[in-house]
Parts: sequence; C-alpha cells; structure tokens
Amino acid sequence: MQFEIAALLGDGVGPEVATEAIKVLEAVGERFGHDFKFHYGLVGGAAIDATGVALADETLQMCKGCDAVLLGAVGGPKWDDPQAKVRPEDGLLALRKELGLFANLRPVKVLPMLVDSTNLKPDVVRGVDLVVVRELTGGLYFGQPKKRWQTAEGRFAVDSMLYSDREIERIMRVGFEMARTRRKKLTSVDKANVLESSRLWRQVAIEVSADYPNVELDHMLVDACTMRLIQKPAYFDVVVTENTFGDIITDEASMLAGSMGMLPSASLAGIPKGGVSKAYGLYEPIHGSAPSRAGQNIANPIATILSTAMMLRYSFNLAMEADAVEKAVIAVLEEGYRTYDIMEPGKNRVGTKEMGSLITQKILS
Ligand code: IPM
Ligand code: MG
Repeated sequence: MQFEIAALLGDGVGPEVATEAIKVLEAVGERFGHDFKFHYGLVGGAAIDATGVALADETLQMCKGCDAVLLGAVGGPKWDDPQAKVRPEDGLLALRKELGLFANLRPVKVLPMLVDSTNLKPDVVRGVDLVVVRELTGGLYFGQPKKRWQTAEGRFAVDSMLYSDREIERIMRVGFEMARTRRKKLTSVDKANVLESSRLWRQVAIEVSADYPNVELDHMLVDACTMRLIQKPAYFDVVVTENTFGDIITDEASMLAGSMGMLPSASLAGIPKGGVSKAYGLYEPIHGSAPSRAGQNIANPIATILSTAMMLRYSFNLAMEADAVEKAVIAVLEEGYRTYDIMEPGKNRVGTKEMGSLITQKILS
C-alpha cells in the first residue's frame, strides 16, 4: 500500500529525531511491502525564518493532502521574545485547529529495563501503563473571548474555558474506545467543584458511559490527579481531560517513564473504534526542540520512533507493523543501548543516529 506522509521536521533536535523516525518507517516499508512517500515542509521557527509565518498556507494544504503528519519539534530561544508577533508554537496550534486534531493520545508506559532511570522509586513506577487522552482543540487554548484590554482601572486579560457537549462527547468516546481494548478503566479528570465547564464535562462523561457498560468510569479532580500520579501511578489506565489540564498532567506523567525522550504522541481527527483506526493524525514526540542539545547527535530519537508506531496503528491501521517497531525498540534497549538521557552505569551509550540505525536493523532482521 502507498501512504503519503507530511514531514515537518521543525526546530532544534526536531530534524535529527525525525530523520531517524523516517529511517524506521522506510525499514517498515521494505520489510512489509509498503510505500511511504514523504512530503517535506517547514513549521515553527524554521518557517518563521523562511516565510515570516509559523505555518505557511501551502504547508497546511500539503498536510491536508497527506494521510498523516510527522512532526519533529518547534521552538527555540531565537524566537522567544514575548513581544514577538509570531511564535513557533503558533504553527503547532494552527495545525491542531485547522486539521481538526481534537484527540491527543499520550501513552506513558514504563519499560521494565528503565525503572531505575526515573527519579521516583522503582516500586512506584513499575508496571505503569496509562494513556492520557487530552482534548486538543477546545477549552482554555481556543475558547473565545480571548483577549487583552485596558481601562482606567488597569490592564485586563481573559482566556475562556469554553466547551460544547459535542466536543466533550467525542473526546469521551475516544477514551472509552481505548479503555475497551485495555484494562477497561476510565478516569475523567476535571475541576467540577469550581468550574461550570467541568460540571458539563462530568455530566457528559456519565452520559457517554452508558454506551460502555464494561468500562468502569471514575471522576477525579485535577489537583487530586496530580498527587495520585506520583503517589500511585499504576492506578490509572485511561485518563480523559481538558486541554490545559492535559497539557500539565502529561508533563508530570512523562517523568514516570524516566525521560521525555521515550514518550510518543498522536493527535487524531477521528475516533479509533475497537482497535481499528484510519483516522487522520499528527504524530510527534512529547518533548520539545531542546535547543541546547541540537546539532550534537545526542537527542533520544525513541519518542519520535514510537510516534511512527502510533501512526502505523491509528492512521494506517497497520497493527502488525506498529508492533514490529515497538518490539525493535524494546530489543535494542534490552541489549543495553542507551542515549544520554536514559544512560546508566554499565550500559552502552549511543547517539541519535546510532540509536535510529540499531532500531532500523532490528526491523529489517
Ligand atoms: C504540548 C506543548 C504545547 C501545548 C505548546 C508547545 C504550545 O506544551 O504539546 O504539550 O501547550 O499544547
Ligand atoms: Mg505541554
């Protein structure tokens, strides 16, 4: 089969890690007889430098013409001036909104050979296998009004945590569909003791749960959730939450796995049903552009490589191929190869390219 992939490598370590992910996809194509065609475009600071905007319209159109998007990372100190009119992050937010990527899946799986590379006690993180389903195109990030103004009383600013029942329903369905094929437990995270939007959130969660009698639903306040994530992370299976809450708790949850360099993500425009999925999606590592690590061949490409496994699974419905990528990653780690971020005494330290090549070779062997 032929698949068209938009490749937006971005800034900082983005191009380095995405290049390794492309190598891996090409190996999957060779082994399983698929043709992955890459269409390159600019996003973030690289796009600002070349075109003056963080995402040119032709790049957006190119993405729309593809089956999926692979993204490296955006941002860097060069474009960080708070007064700047355009910011690299605008490119990412525009992609999410314009491509309708409302469901952000952020799995956190602690691999047994990495339990000692976290700051938490091995007993706390052992066996953690959760996925945060973050609503990505609504809530505080996009709700209107969103503005600044000035009066005689001083300067004001507002962001709105606005949700419709439909937006909540579709993200809940993504969560329930995932939970159905996992441990059948869904935690809906909100702030219903204070926020009106959270009370609607909770009500819709209960309504949608009627369609999934085999999945256990519980509700947790977001502040309690941040505590629970450190105290007993293995409690969680599927977590569904609002855009900003999801932004915050996924950074926290990423620390369970030792390094952000290990964690992939998928942002989908559709609902994967019963493990079958051909949803349009954008795939990127959870980590940022890490400017201080750029150009040194040290960044960990595993998060981006695991993101391609999610692409194979959720956009191309190629579960076997996705498994092959994940198994290759595990095999290379089991052999003791580590990038700097997950390095431990007695292991074999390798660079970005070497890690990519080791994983590629496993897929081809
Ligand atoms: C993320 C990032 C983005 C977000 C930034 C870069 C706009 O933190 O993907 O979690 O806030 O959503
Ligand atoms: Mg974030």
